[in-house]
Amino acid sequence: GGLPPFVNEPMADFTRREQREAFPRAIAGVRKQLGKTYPLFIGGRDVPTGDTLPTVNPSNPAEVLGTICQAGVAEVGGAIAAAKAALPAWRDTEPRVRAEYLLKAAAAARRRIFELSAWQVLEIGKQWDQAYADVGEAIDFLEYYAREMVRLGKPQRVGNAPGELNHYLYQPKGVAAVIAPWNFPLAISMGMVSAAIVTGNCVVYKPSGLTSIIGHHLVELFQEAGLPAGVFNFTPGRGSVMGDYLVDHPDISLIAFTGSMEVGLRIIERAAKVHPGQVNVKKIVCEMGGKNAIVIDDDADLDEAVPHVLYSAFGFQGQKCSACSRVIVLDAVYDKFVERLVSMARATTVGSSEDPAHYMGAVADDKAMNSIKEYIEIGRKEGNVLYESPVPAGGGYFVPMTIIDGIRPEHRLAQEEIFGPVLAVMRVKDFDQAIEWANSTRFALTGGVFSRSPEHLEKARREFRVGNLYLNRNNTGALVERQPFGGAQMSGVGTKAGGPDYLLHFMDPRVVTENT
Ligand code: SER
Repeated sequence: GGLPPFVNEPMADFTRREQREAFPRAIAGVRKQLGKTYPLFIGGRDVPTGDTLPTVNPSNPAEVLGTICQAGVAEVGGAIAAAKAALPAWRDTEPRVRAEYLLKAAAAARRRIFELSAWQVLEIGKQWDQAYADVGEAIDFLEYYAREMVRLGKPQRVGNAPGELNHYLYQPKGVAAVIAPWNFPLAISMGMVSAAIVTGNCVVYKPSGLTSIIGHHLVELFQEAGLPAGVFNFTPGRGSVMGDYLVDHPDISLIAFTGSMEVGLRIIERAAKVHPGQVNVKKIVCEMGGKNAIVIDDDADLDEAVPHVLYSAFGFQGQKCSACSRVIVLDAVYDKFVERLVSMARATTVGSSEDPAHYMGAVADDKAMNSIKEYIEIGRKEGNVLYESPVPAGGGYFVPMTIIDGIRPEHRLAQEEIFGPVLAVMRVKDFDQAIEWANSTRFALTGGVFSRSPEHLEKARREFRVGNLYLNRNNTGALVERQPFGGAQMSGVGTKAGGPDYLLHFMDPRVVTENT
């Protein structure tokens, strides 16, 4: 029979006692599982390696969470071979049957939602609600792409000429490499992997080194779903050792990547080269950075705008590609807005995200911490620091919540993706200048406008050319199906995760014409 219609997984509701109490219990439960060694998973089997790296808690890097076996070139080659061997049978498995595996993985994730969320609090410093939302989004991708494949899996009749029968159908590209980021460690991984799998490709998946335990959760969920051996292979490893090998390999036909612009463009360039024995032109699904702006019009409802800007800029420490990193404020409302924003920022605290009292937690690692601190120093020279929060002492990777004004389009703070909790404030004379400045970066991912003017909102719809434009709400937290997510220009190649076109990027269409 048909599947029930897609609905988004509900958000966490910590006004409900059972949810509030489940979280610390889940964190304590995860602490009992620390210290394990995580093998690779290739061709349906665990594959340990001698080369390992620890993964740590960014709020307290002395706390080692586990040890991750690292894939070298030999293991990646083995994973690609396993994927290639599994491909013919998986490609010929009915779309509806492939979709069932995703639904089973979704059910497994739902059963473990608090535990999987707790891992994110410890491995990457997500706040409780953000962690839960990430697992919820992973479930949404599984549920949504399962239904999408059922829809696309039926051969479509095209044309209506007499004496001729035309069928339009899709086949998978082949072996897919999925290279995932740490910031939505389950959701974005699962989104790219499940899209590749359900469309009939076999996958070699490289999680981020910072979130490899969460990466291993995909192994666990697909094993619980009973996915056939070789369809999904897990190869964590150092990018410097095995990244190019994976991208260059002639048996890879599709690369799905989410991460920085620098790495994305490098993958696109390398993947263009055809190597001996290669069958397919490599297809790249690539989501990259942003330098997202929210415009505050002179008639904006500041009761709405202030908390939404704060959340868009500093939720999960500003480490979302969707995060607001520029707020562009009309002169008439500038002083009032800025004063209220800073006073709300002052009322928040920075500290371990294990404690839900903290608005902001630690950033991803020492590299991220140092790079963000450098940008704060650049901002100090380019503009004026309006607010720099205290941070906890100790070894955690904390940086201050930082608000800097006096920034203009020519400044680095207005152009470069910082990927941290640094908000540039820009003063403009009118709405036209606001939209011009908003569009003045090479990125085009998210954007926002707070305004009560129908003409200004209309102008923004037309001219604020980002992939995801939000009117009178925050910029982050796109939901599967409701806000298909992704940008253009240097933010990506125009794909929309969680949207109706997404699976098409993972397949080649065919047409069969029969003379009847
Ligand atoms: N989908 C996320 C968001 O909208 C970003 O990757 O915040």
